[in-house]
Amino acid sequence: MPNIPFCDYKKLYLDYREDYLKIFDEVASSGGFIMQKALSDFEEELANFIGCKYSIGVANCTDGLEISWQSLGLRSGDEVICSSHTFIATASSIVMAGGVPVPVDIGDDNLIDPNAVADAVNPRTVGIMPTQLNGRTCDMEKIMEIANNNKLFVVEDAAQALGSKFKGRHSGTFGDVGAISFYPAKVMGCFGDGGAVITNNENIFNKAYQLHEQGRDPNGDLKSWGRNSRLDNIQAAILSFQLKKYINVIERRREIASYYNERLYELEELKLPPPPSVNGNHFDIFQNYEFMAEKRDELKQYLLEKGIGTLIQWNGKAIHQWEPLGFNLKLPKVEEFFKKAIMIPIWPYLSADDIKYIADSIYSFYRK
Ligand SMILES: Cc1ncc(COP(=O)(O)O)c(C=O)c1O
Repeated sequence: MPNIPFCDYKKLYLDYREDYLKIFDEVASSGGFIMQKALSDFEEELANFIGCKYSIGVANCTDGLEISWQSLGLRSGDEVICSSHTFIATASSIVMAGGVPVPVDIGDDNLIDPNAVADAVNPRTVGIMPTQLNGRTCDMEKIMEIANNNKLFVVEDAAQALGSKFKGRHSGTFGDVGAISFYPAKVMGCFGDGGAVITNNENIFNKAYQLHEQGRDPNGDLKSWGRNSRLDNIQAAILSFQLKKYINVIERRREIASYYNERLYELEELKLPPPPSVNGNHFDIFQNYEFMAEKRDELKQYLLEKGIGTLIQWNGKAIHQWEPLGFNLKLPKVEEFFKKAIMIPIWPYLSADDIKYIADSIYSFYRK
């Protein structure tokens, strides 16, 4: 029986072991570990790839999001509207920067619902924080319209969306500032924690730069309080290597997603994600292939017995459903989503046989 784990972390390294050893050797023998050429090269390559003016390597995306809010001058009690369908880091970055997250429900695409955002705006609201989840960019026209009409900041949580686009424009470049994650399981992941802040705004860049580098500017002059949240040069060099192959990686994920969609669409027990590039407006990179399934828990167990690893994201809970956080909200769509949501493997190293086996197994569960 095949054994297909949800993610084989070792493979992410072993498939290019020789290249990575060479990269490590080059950076380590140059002695440039922190804030050196490998990092500045990567920051430039990343900004070019995304089509934005500035990118700053940071220690992880959570820091990047917090730094983003601090760069915008978030003050105690300021409210920020975010999706309840996201990782806790989205909301915690608001809290750590002194603000108050206001989670709202999702739309039919499982991303933040622009109508819910509009309804939640009140005099305390200062910002909107859409999460570009599973590698899909929200309808940013609608989000930006609400932001512009109400003079709100927009920080994009693009942790899962490097290379994803809406109407040809890259995720993370619509709002004032965005942040990306290079956590190992991300479509482009390094071998530890890593992230980037991206922006087109020079003032925000200057502020974010200082905040991630002990309050210093690029010349080393102290300008403000700050912290140490730098991306290591070795991680940056690993990411530069990956960025060169990134388009192919995305294409492979999109191919696998199309295959799953074509094979599974007949099963009315499932609600599948939209196919890649639906309507030509969205270009999705499929950080995850997540869908809603009737009898989800039985399906998960059945796939496990077939040797297929799956994931129920974030322990099956939306942000507002975590009791210790004290939200007292009912958000029916995202609650329904989490009752049924499941992720199946979508890694580029999966073979044609693997993905066929996964699709066949799901099919056979519902049509034994
Ligand atoms: C939606 C979302 N936001 C933020 C983060 C935080 O990223 P990091 O782990 O790099 O801090 C993640 C990472 O899993 C994420 O998926």
